[in-house]
Order: sequence, then structure tokens, then C-alpha cells
Amino acid sequence: MYFYPGRVWLDTDGHAIQAHGGGILYDHITAKYYWYGENKDGLTYQTHPKSTNRVDIIGVSCYSSKDLWSWTNEGIVLPGEPTNVTHDLHKSKVLERPKVIYNDHTGQYVMWMHIDDANYTKASVGVAVSTSPSGPFTYLYSFRPHGFESRDMTIFKDDDGSAYLFYSSRDNTELHVSPLTKDYLNIMVAMRRILIRRHREAPAVFKLQGTYYMITSGCSGWAPNRALAHAAESIMGPWETLGNPCVGGNRFFRLTTFLSQSTFVLPLPGLPGTFIFMADRWNPSNLRDSRYVWLPLFIGGLADEPLDYSFGFPAWSRVSIYWHRKWRLPESWKGYT
Ligand code: DGJ
Repeated sequence: MYFYPGRVWLDTDGHAIQAHGGGILYDHITAKYYWYGENKDGLTYQTHPKSTNRVDIIGVSCYSSKDLWSWTNEGIVLPGEPTNVTHDLHKSKVLERPKVIYNDHTGQYVMWMHIDDANYTKASVGVAVSTSPSGPFTYLYSFRPHGFESRDMTIFKDDDGSAYLFYSSRDNTELHVSPLTKDYLNIMVAMRRILIRRHREAPAVFKLQGTYYMITSGCSGWAPNRALAHAAESIMGPWETLGNPCVGGNRFFRLTTFLSQSTFVLPLPGLPGTFIFMADRWNPSNLRDSRYVWLPLFIGGLADEPLDYSFGFPAWSRVSIYWHRKWRLPESWKGYT
């Protein structure tokens, strides 16, 4: 049961997993993990010689697993729209980075995603709901949070049940963070601008012992770039930048996030301080063949910035993502018990 970052990963039917830009939900009711992501199993093409490569919207795929290694295809839980061109999910549009959380008050599974047109000018978030983790999800609407552009995004559910939306805004120059309403179907009025002028995207948020952490990428389309880790005492900020979390491999690998881009960080229950870093190794000429890079992420030790410790020890622990050609979870790890 080894993970091989960057290799084709087959589901239990023997088909390559299609869950790009994805995220994972652990469902306490079915006691299973659900992996949601973009199904990109179509032709890669350009609408215009200068536009970014794309695949028509097929929909959001869902896979389930008990052990995070063997994944059963649960099908397309939010399909694209084949005919109505005015629909947000029409195949000519863009649906990226779907993330699902469970609302304990309403009993609904709530999906947030990046909704756009082929030229990325709509820059909105979309919301869909389901009463089951394996769908089907009903698409509700899209909007621009607080009237601002929203491209790469994620949602984070905190220990107390409050949830937050993080989105790249203002031409991806900064991130915004906003609490979701109690039903997770909308955002609250409060909003904070974070990582201003940093030009970050692909946010993945996680938490350890009261401290919030985030991995982001730079903005270079489908091409990989250097990741950064960030930390905050309050989820609404201020957020501090720690540095590049990538360890091992060669320098080129470390400066390209092991040739991949962050999408989600999954805590491993029973192993405090241990997470799985999930990333996409995009293949821009054939997006359906984009691969998954899953690696162990640890929080611990001294942060690598600031480099000058003469004022005392830094407030933050180091976030480290270790390169492995192959690796596995500890034999003793049984998931949630
Ligand atoms: C980078 C983003 O992180 C991806 O989700 C996707 O939008 C590509 N840009 C498109 O070029």
C-alpha cells in the first residue's frame, strides 16, 4: 500500500482516478473518506492561441476509501451541463478546486468551487449541496464574494464548527478570508485581506494545536512553482509567511513543489502533527493525465524564517513536506477509531 507520487493512480475498477484540484472529507456517518475533484477526462484544447489550456467541464468526481489508498469511484456527483450555455456549469465554462464540508446543523454536505468562464473573467465562487457524501449535489448559485474577484479558493471547517472561505482576489495579488454563514451556504460580511501583494493561489489550510497553517503556490498557470507555508494565530489573520516547506529531492524539485501545486492538506487522526499534503502535477498538454503528488507533511521544529534567531525563538513551528519516491502510512495507522 505504497503511495507513488506522480504515478498513474488507479481506482478499484482499474481506471485512472479523475479528481484534480481536489479535497478530502472524512464522513463520520459512513466512516469513510471522500475525495472530490475535477474530472478532466476529456480533450485538452485552447479556445484561442493565447488562452490557457482547458478541458470542458465534465463534473466533480467523488471516490470513497477507508484507508486513503484504495479508492472506489462513486461517480460524478455534480455533472456539467451539456446544453444550456447560460448555466454556470455549461461544458464551455470552468469548474475548479471543489471542496466539501459537512454542516452539523443542517445535515447537509456543502460543496464550494471556483466558477469561471473560459477566459477566467467571471471569477466567482459556486455552491452546491447534498444530503449524502456521495451525492448527487444540487447546484445552487455562484457569486463574487463581497463583490471581489475570486479564483483559486478553498474552504476550511474549524474545530468549533465555524467555516471559512479563502480566495485569491484582485488579479490574484492577494487572498481574502471570510467566515461562512452558519448553514455554510453563504459568506458573512466580515472579510480580511491577507498576503497582500504576495500573488499567491492554490490555498490549502490546516490547523494544529490552535495555530492555523496554509500552503500556497505562486501564480504561473499550469506550470509548477515554489510553495510557501504561512501561519496565523487567528484564522482571519494576520498571516505570516514561513518559507518554502519542501524538503528533500533536488533543488529544482524543491523550487517547483516537486513539480506540483497544492490543493489540500489532510490531517491524519491519531498522528498529531502529521498530515498528507495533496498536490496536482498538471500536464498542460493533456490535462486528463495530470497526476497526484501526495506526500507526508509534518509540523514541528523551528520555523525556517526568520533566519535571524537573535531575538529569540520564532513563534511558529516549521512546516515540512518531505519528498519520497514511494512511501506509506504507518502499519499501525487505522484512521479514525
Ligand atoms: C492555476 C490554478 O491554480 C489552477 O487551478 C488553474 O486555474 C490554472 N491556473 C489555469 O491555468
